[in-house]
Parts: sequence; C-alpha cells; structure tokens
Amino acid sequence: MTRTLPARVFADREDACRTLAGEVAEMIAAINRSGRPAVLGLATGRTPLPFYAELIRRHREDGLSFREVVTFNLDEYLGLAEGHLESYRAFMRRELFDHVDILPGNVHIPDGWLAKSEIPAHCAAYERAIREAGGIDFQLLGIGRTGHIGFNEPGSPRDSRTRVVALDELTRRDAGPSFGGISQVPRQAISMGCGTILEARRIALLAWGEAKAAIVKTALQGQVTDQVSASFLQEHADAAFYLDEAAAGEL
Ligand code: PGA
Repeated sequence: MTRTLPARVFADREDACRTLAGEVAEMIAAINRSGRPAVLGLATGRTPLPFYAELIRRHREDGLSFREVVTFNLDEYLGLAEGHLESYRAFMRRELFDHVDILPGNVHIPDGWLAKSEIPAHCAAYERAIREAGGIDFQLLGIGRTGHIGFNEPGSPRDSRTRVVALDELTRRDAGPSFGGISQVPRQAISMGCGTILEARRIALLAWGEAKAAIVKTALQGQVTDQVSASFLQEHADAAFYLDEAAAGEL
C-alpha cells in the first residue's frame, strides 16, 4: 500500500547525520541487549560521509561499539583493479571500518574481482548470508539522480535481487570526477536488488543539495514505478528520507 513517506528536513547534512547516528546507536544498543548482533545495510558515495564521520566520533567519544554489528554493503563496481581507491571495499575501510571496532569477519561487500562465471553463485550466497544473519535491521541509502537505490537503475524490478547491473550513463557521468573522467568509470556493478533492500526492517534515505531536489520530489511524491527505484520506498512500512533544506527545496 502506498503511504506518505516521511521527509525529515534538517538545517544541514551534519545536523541530519547527528540525529540519524543517534537513532542508529540506540538501535544497535537495543538489539545487542536483546542478545543478538545488529545487522546494518551500508551505502557508499559522497552522501553518507558525514554519517560515517559521526559514527566514528561516537565510537571515539561516546563508547559506541561495533563488536556486535554485522554489515552488508549495497554494491560494488565490477572491473576495477584490486585495491582501486574508488572501489567500495577501499571506501568502506577508509571512511568507517578502519576507525571503529568492527570485526572483519562481520563485514560483507559484494566481490567485484571474481571471474564472470563465479558471479551468479556469489550473488546467491550474498542473499543467503543476509538471510542467515536474520535480515537487515537498518538499511542506509543514498539516491542517484536516476532515482537509483543501490545501483538499481531505471527498469530494475520491484522484486530484483543481488545481481550484475549496468550503470546508467547519468550515474557514470556523476561518478566521472572522482575517477578522473567518465571513461575510467566501470560500466557494471554487483548490486543488491530492490527486493533485497525493501526487506530491511527500517530504511533511511539521505540526500543533500540542490542537485538532488528534483529526484527527491519524484521519489517521494511521484508514482511508484520501476523507472525510479527509490519510489518503491513509498510502499515500505518504516522508511524515511533525511534531507537538508536544499534537497527538500522542491517538496
Ligand atoms: P552520491 O551518490 O552520494 O555520491 O551522491 C548517491 C548514489 O548514487 O546513490
């Protein structure tokens, strides 16, 4: 059923990330108290950077521990050299994992360096690992200007699962500057599917800045359609957008 997806608007991205990090820290503590690890779905890109900075600050200053946290990242590029700085594996180490007490064995990121023939089994195993961990308690999302969540570009079915996806030209263009030009941006990735993401018990989508305002409006207030995978969040029972004023500018 379609409902009004909550849009929480903050003065700036740091303010939004302080609030969300506080909520996630409480959630981790409550789940750990119930006797099991908390399972977090994590995102990459520029958007979550202030959120990860705030988690690291809480780890250092407030005793937030990740020892009983299991993570699953949304996606990974295919075709990069191993250790490439723009790989999401490198990103996660640099921006979060190297700075907190998470156990390396509890971290899951799709493997972008497998032989093509090994990828389908790897995707199936990724889905199985999420299920065996008890499902995702909290999923963090950004949104691309194509409306993608993960790398679920326009046309990704509502029930899609972890698989190889082709990156939209707009997505590749937006990634161009960090790769030193669009020709260096991979054409494919492994991504959790829309169905995988929508099974998370709670979801927060973050968006900052004017460049995201139009797609935020479409995702929140437009039709639910596989042309805008973030619009599927309208059908989720516990999803919310966390926006700065610029990203909320067209609502
Ligand atoms: P960005 O990417 O955080 O770098 O804007 C968001 C996304 O493509 O999901």
